Amino acid sequence: KNKEKITTKLTMISATRGFSRWKVLEYQIRALATMPNMNYKERTYIMIKPDGVQRKLIGNVITRFENRGFRLSALKMMRPDKSLLETHYKELKDLPFFPHLMDYMQSGPVVCMIWEGYEAVKIGRLMLGATKPIDSMPGTVRGDFGQVSGRNIVHGSDALGSAEREIALWFKPEEILEW
Ligand code: RTP
Ligand code: MG
Repeated sequence: KNKEKITTKLTMISATRGFSRWKVLEYQIRALATMPNMNYKERTYIMIKPDGVQRKLIGNVITRFENRGFRLSALKMMRPDKSLLETHYKELKDLPFFPHLMDYMQSGPVVCMIWEGYEAVKIGRLMLGATKPIDSMPGTVRGDFGQVSGRNIVHGSDALGSAEREIALWFKPEEILEW
């Protein structure tokens, strides 16, 4: 067991010295895999909203998730219809801003993604920042680019259950890649 630990440490050290980023990511995943009770394949649904697409922030958001070591399992661009959006945001349907949310989300194409990795849901939310940009920390997507809640650039699943529900809602099984 100790030998395994040392090997993991050594591979991680060598990973930081001159290996390609791809290799570093593989070592990170391999190291996590040796630790018990760690789900390094947790999935979250991340979606760049119409304002994020219009402001040309697609690459910026993808780069953040790649740099953090997450793995992209699905990616597509689409114009969601009203019924899909109503299902997605069904918990909010009685709130006063709901019609505005529907209009906003239908104002242009969105980019749908599944990102996979250790604590993907929680870390994903942290990376996006708080819903209200006034509360979102600098360094987060919303904290770096947002001013108002009604135009907050990205969506991220808020719990394990909602992540799986949203993944099933937005993607067909054959659109999701295991690699
Ligand atoms: P999201 O689901 O989009 O990732 O956002 P969230 O969890 O941070 O926030 P949530 O409470 O689920 O709200 C969903 C989206 O509704 C819009 N909103 N507008 N005008 C308003 O006061 C207001 N409040 C929320 C935002 O686009 C928010 O992301
Ligand atoms: Mg939400």
